[in-house]
This record gives sequence, C-alpha cells and structure tokens, in this order.
Amino acid sequence: MTCLWSLWSLSLLTFACFGREACSSHCPVLECWLVPDKARAGASNNQEKVLLDVRTDGHHAANQDAPPDGIKKIYSVGDPAATLCHRSLCPLSGSAHKPVCELSSFLPHPSTVKWAASLTEPAFSPLYLQADWMAASIQGLDAQRGISNVLRATTGTSDLDVVLSVTTTTVAVKAGLGEQVLLDCQFWADRASPLSGFAIEWRRQFRGSGEMILAYDGKADRLSDTPEDGAMVDFAGLHRNGNASLIIRETKVRHTGTYICMVYLPNLLAQVTMELEILEPPSLSMHPASLPLIVTGQSLTVHCVASGFAPHSLELSWEFKSPDGKTRSLGPVRISGHRQAWDGTYSQDTRLELDTSTMDLGRGGEVTCVGEHPGGTRRASVTLRIIGFSTPSIEDSMAMVGVALVLYGLIKFVSWTFIPSGGALIDGSNGADEADKKKK
Ligand SMILES: *[C@@H]1O[C@H](CO)[C@@H](O)[C@H](O)[C@H]1NC(C)=O
Repeated sequence: MTCLWSLWSLSLLTFACFGREACSSHCPVLECWLVPDKARAGASNNQEKVLLDVRTDGHHAANQDAPPDGIKKIYSVGDPAATLCHRSLCPLSGSAHKPVCELSSFLPHPSTVKWAASLTEPAFSPLYLQADWMAASIQGLDAQRGISNVLRATTGTSDLDVVLSVTTTTVAVKAGLGEQVLLDCQFWADRASPLSGFAIEWRRQFRGSGEMILAYDGKADRLSDTPEDGAMVDFAGLHRNGNASLIIRETKVRHTGTYICMVYLPNLLAQVTMELEILEPPSLSMHPASLPLIVTGQSLTVHCVASGFAPHSLELSWEFKSPDGKTRSLGPVRISGHRQAWDGTYSQDTRLELDTSTMDLGRGGEVTCVGEHPGGTRRASVTLRIIGFSTPSIEDSMAMVGVALVLYGLIKFVSWTFIPSGGALIDGSNGADEADKKKK
C-alpha cells in the first residue's frame, strides 16, 4: 500500500513538474474518482482516477498532455467563480490525507417537486442541455467544506465548465440546547447560461426518516407550504449572493440530523449535506444534598440524578477523595435505565451504598458523582464525615481521659458543697419512721 502511494505521489509529482504546480494560488489539480456509470451495462466496476485541472481565467488548458501513469484522463475545468479554489482542496505535500472527490455523469431532467416546477415551464429543453454533463462531489480536508458542482462539457471534449456550484463551510456542527445555529449553504450559477431561475430546498434526515424544513421557489418568489417553526433563510441575501444558509433560532434535541441544502436550476440539481449534532451535558444533583454524621460500621446510600442531557450516551461513576487528596473510584454502583423527557432530553440515576465497615473510608472525605458525556463532564459532591468508635485515636483517648478527670473532680466538688454530712440523711429517714409509727 505504502509502495503504491509513493508510486502515485511520484507520478503526481512528474505531472506537477510537467504541467504547473499542484496548488498554485489555491486552485488545485484535483484528483477524483470517476464513478462508473451504472446505467451503462457491462461497464467495469473499477473506479478510475482522473485529474481536474482547475482554471479561473476562462481559458481551458490548450495542450492536453498525456495523462501520467494511473490516471485515465485529465479534465480542464473552467471555474470563473473559483468555487474549487480553496486551500482545503490542496493535498498536503507528503501526506496521504487528501480531499475526497468523486466525479460522475449527470443527466439533466425537469424536477418533479412543485417548488421547482415553475423553472421548467414552458416545457422545452434548450439546446444548451444537449452536452455531456457531470457532477462533482468534493469534501475538503478536515471537514472544512463540502462542494457539489454540476459541470458541462461540449460533447466529445474534456473541457468542463462549472454551471452550478453549491458549497457549505459547516460540514459538521455541534451545538448545545437553545442556541442559534447557522447551517451555511452558498450557491453560484453561471449567469452566461440560458438557464434562469432557481429554487432551494432544505431537508433533514434522521435515522431513516426525512422531513422538509423549507422550500422556496426563487422564480415565483414563493415559499412552499409552511417552513418549520424557528427555521429561516435570508431571502434578500439569497437573491443577492446566493446565500441559502439556514438559521435555526433555538436548537432542540429533535434538530439533530443530516441537513441537505438542495439548489435547483432548470433541469439541474446540486446538493450539499451537513451534520448537526445537539450535545447537551447533564445537570447532576445529589440526594441527600448533605450527609449526616455517621459512625463506623453504619452504612448510608447516596443517590445521584443526571438530567437534561442529549444524546443518551452517559457514563456515571463515583469517586472518593480522602483528606490527603488521594482519589479513587467507588463501587459497585447501581445505574438505572434512561428516561426521556417531553423535550427529548434524557435522565438517568445512580445509587451508591457507602458501607463504612467494608469500604475503607477512614474518617470520611468527599464523595463525588461523575457524569461523562460527549457534551462535557459534570460533577457533584457531598462531604462524608465518619466518627470512629472501634479504634479511637491517641487524641480521642487523651480527650476522654481529660473529660473523665474533669467529671470526677466535678462530682467530688458537688458532694462536698451541697451534702454537709452523712448524719442529716439518716435523721430524716428516722423522722419518717416515727411519723409512720404515730399513724399506726
Ligand atoms: C448568509 O446569511 C446569513 C444569515 O443572514 C449570515 O449570517 C451569513 O453571514 C451569510 N453568509 C455569507 C457568506 O454572506
């Protein structure tokens, strides 16, 4: 594999020297997989490599050099808006880490969705559509951007021109609950083409089910149906700069999913996808909130409730920190199943029995409930204090001797002061006897 890679980089190097620098002024020579045409029966299933030589000056590379080894074809790509000119599309030299590009053939056809239907009325196909069309789907390095282009080639040539380009710079977004989120989507359409008018559509997919968030017919300036509550697009910006970004005003758990920004031109469609993940760490609470003083040999159960978190992956554990600062984990713990609240967040709880006779908790310390969540780690602590009877310390013994001495002195003092002599008590009892005798 390594051998193949180095062979490959060598061939790219020769190409680079032969032609021009692989990434001059951020316009790359993009390495793409040519996805075989499924419709063409008998076509080989092997994907082949091609190169896209991107130029923004409106001229296609004049002399087509023979492609280097391992490359099927070199396409000259006219990209006046420089949609493919970004550093995240330049492979880092000497790194196997490369942008991912797929090129496939594309068949223009009228859209069947109602918000794009007005684009292909009246229903005739301009001559312009009779050409070789291709679609390129590109993921930049480090998820910096996702690009989807529709390109046109005059039949029989390898000169491609970008006609429609859709880009996102928010390929993977993580947000907490209740935040405002921007899902970026920008499009560019070649104004020189006879295809006029556009429509956009935002969709969300999660676990196999999909829903429409917003659809807009730019030609008729009409929103289709009702957009999802709290989701909006700046329509002025959309018409002015092709800024189709979606704003979600206040994130909720149900907003997690794959978002698709689709841009329609008459007979053409390009789309980019992005992931939004709602990550909310738990709030922890301890019960009881403060622990009673306990005696060695006794045990006590503490209870920790984690709530308001999403998604449901949470690790609950317990820690004990003794006064000397040493920390260790405590167990065994009992953990409940998940419960889901009306807002989609989860809760879960754990119990720990603090058994002072078996757990070696000394004179006490800090007992902490730890909740580890993809959105962050949260902790809640209580102080445990234990008084020992079984093995009193030196200080305890000395204090007890001191208390005993003081008590002894006090008793002596009281008996001397308030009881003058033993005789008085005997006289009293005699008097009582005499009274008894008189009654008889
Ligand atoms: C697109 O529009 C949104 C919402 O108005 C704005 O926040 C964002 O900065 C715009 N993006 C660009 C690249 O203009």
